[in-house]
Amino acid sequence: MAEVVSYRREGKIAVITVDNPPVNALSLPVRAGLAKAFTEFAADAEAGAAVLICAGRTFIAGADITEFDKPIEDPWLPKVIHQIEDCAKPVVAAIHGTALGGGLETAMGCHYRVAVATAQVGLPEVSLGLLPGATGTQRLPRLIGVKNALDAMISGRPMNAKAGLDKGVIDQIVDGDLLAGAKAFAEKLLADGKGPRRAREIKVDAASLPADFFAEYRKSIARDTRGFFAPEQIIKCVEAAVSLSYEDAVARENELFMQCMKSTHSKAQRHLFFAEREVAKIPDVPKDTPLRPIKQVAVIGGGTMGGGIAMNFANVGIPVLLKEITQEALDRGMAIIRSNYEGPVKKGKMTQAQMDACMALITPTLKYEDIANADLVIEAVFETMAIKKEVFSALDAACKPGAILASNTSTLDIDAIAACTKRPEDVIGLHFFAPANVMSLLEIVRGAKTSKEVIATSMAMAKTIRKMGVLVRVCFGFVGNRMFFPYVREAQRMMLEGVPPERIDSVAFAWGMAMGPHGVSDLSGLDVLHKVNKEWQEKPDDPAYCRMIDVLVEKGRYGQKTGAGIYRYEGRNAVPDPEVAALTKAEAAALKVPQLEVSDEEIIERLMIAMINEGALILDEGIAYRSSDIDIVFCHGYGMPRYRGGPMMYADTLGLDKVVAAMEKYRARYGDLYWKAAPLLAKLAQSGQTFAQWSASKR
Ligand code: 3HC
Repeated sequence: MAEVVSYRREGKIAVITVDNPPVNALSLPVRAGLAKAFTEFAADAEAGAAVLICAGRTFIAGADITEFDKPIEDPWLPKVIHQIEDCAKPVVAAIHGTALGGGLETAMGCHYRVAVATAQVGLPEVSLGLLPGATGTQRLPRLIGVKNALDAMISGRPMNAKAGLDKGVIDQIVDGDLLAGAKAFAEKLLADGKGPRRAREIKVDAASLPADFFAEYRKSIARDTRGFFAPEQIIKCVEAAVSLSYEDAVARENELFMQCMKSTHSKAQRHLFFAEREVAKIPDVPKDTPLRPIKQVAVIGGGTMGGGIAMNFANVGIPVLLKEITQEALDRGMAIIRSNYEGPVKKGKMTQAQMDACMALITPTLKYEDIANADLVIEAVFETMAIKKEVFSALDAACKPGAILASNTSTLDIDAIAACTKRPEDVIGLHFFAPANVMSLLEIVRGAKTSKEVIATSMAMAKTIRKMGVLVRVCFGFVGNRMFFPYVREAQRMMLEGVPPERIDSVAFAWGMAMGPHGVSDLSGLDVLHKVNKEWQEKPDDPAYCRMIDVLVEKGRYGQKTGAGIYRYEGRNAVPDPEVAALTKAEAAALKVPQLEVSDEEIIERLMIAMINEGALILDEGIAYRSSDIDIVFCHGYGMPRYRGGPMMYADTLGLDKVVAAMEKYRARYGDLYWKAAPLLAKLAQSGQTFAQWSASKR
């Protein structure tokens, strides 16, 4: 087997090459190989300097994340980095692709860094619930200053080579061949008599920091990092960089890194990292399935949803036709799109020229004939089967052969929609989440007859428009809404049991949800939920089921859009409403719902376990391919915090036996209707397995 790290000498320059595809991660053989190569360099009397370079598409992209669940094996990365830094002869890192995490830490252990202009460098560990644990928290502040280093490590965002050069983590940008440029840089060091330059020996610039710097910094990131464990640990490491010796601060970094690595947060975030790559792999749709070109898109329906969908394509340069029935509706739709773009322009996130270019790609139309050449048509009209069928018959007549006909339905049967066309193999569900130009989730719903080509093209298209595409099968509500309904059901039930909605929401928020279930219901529109419940053929036989939604809708309280729903709205501020409390009390009395004392723990337990049980049914029915796909749906589409890893990962973390025990507890109180453990959940709990293990066993 070829060595993953090789050593050769070209004249006076030692060239040490890492070759560990796909991303040159620092797995044990790479660490051991680096230790061996740098030992050889130290002993090589002919070598005056070394260049560390990588084969393949990138410089080292970090530690090997798959190793974090196993015991650490020597040599551990900080030891290797110190060995490199301790070299008596200069070492130059030659960077292309992405030098991330342990990759940048290794480069910072080298004495100099050169990079091609397209390279990116960064410490993204925070997105895995970790901190840069191989001296990165100590080196980056020394090289680019405390504030810049904190910003880079807390956001996890990489910087391009030019920014790296300006800030001081890159010494030179190489034009042309990287190895030749790096060798020339090393030779010049030798010619100028320059030796090693060790980052650890640089003094952290603490003098220029205001006395309250760290307290203020904590405040400035509090909102964006709410609930996450790692950001605070990163700040503690930088405080150590400022106040302790290098050696003591590295020991502190190591201690805090271990805490992060063992945390449930990091396990959940690492789970999502792999889930987000696994989700693109569809068992029966091979990687080489031919793709249809998508050069022209049409969106049917210029409401908020249709407009948001159109923006996604315009944003990546694909022309879109926006079709409406009346000129008035069309004008309104275009005006909404325009105002959606104006927001980012005002905030400086987009230039006026970029906005104009996007607007120019969206063409309004009233005629079906105009969409005849569209490669992909997405219907985003009213959520009623009769109307959807009408639209699809018209599309079947108007669209060219081979066009993909997609519905943005959030609940309805794609097969029934496909059946009113003569080309059900070209029909698919593309369920965008509101606001469609912002939310990263796209549920891709394959019908019984959808062709593999259409599935593969839709998955690729999701990537093009920067969405996380999750392939699911047909059922009422698909994965997201089907699991969201039991969550809302429990929130609604607890309201009837006398728990104030604002308390339920604040407990869910404290647990990490971006918004509580009642706030979300008001945002989505109670009228929408009411209508969905009405269309639902298998709605539970329970008069209390989401009863307050019906009551409030009857009173014209549709949520945020009417200024009143479960809450009353002062601007966007939700205010508890005594009128709703009185209505709820009266309804509970009429339905004879017992009033209960409900603890915070029970609030979370009922919300989550109701969802998890539905998730188990969904998995068993094959609606979702694997439990991690469900997790992606909730972290990308429903505001679940990444540090919980999604509902199914959360269940695995709790232990499925505990989940079943909770189901039994509520079954004893409420009966079988909602609280009978799904057969798959019961089976896995009994055999001591997790959803993740079960999903992996089906691969
Ligand atoms: N460890 C293990 N596997 C990794 C990996 C890593 N650090 N980075 C990527 N991979 C795997 C992916 O899982 C994927 O595997 P698959 O083909 O079997 O699905 C394969 O490599 C290719 O990855 P991508 O599909 O993501 O390829 P892209 O070209 O789209 O992106 C990348 C490349 C930008 C490097 C991206 O993979 C990435 O962001 N990787 C993670 C970078 C990172 O977070 N580094 C820090 C790690 S933690 C650390 O270093 C701790 C240290 O401080 C001690």
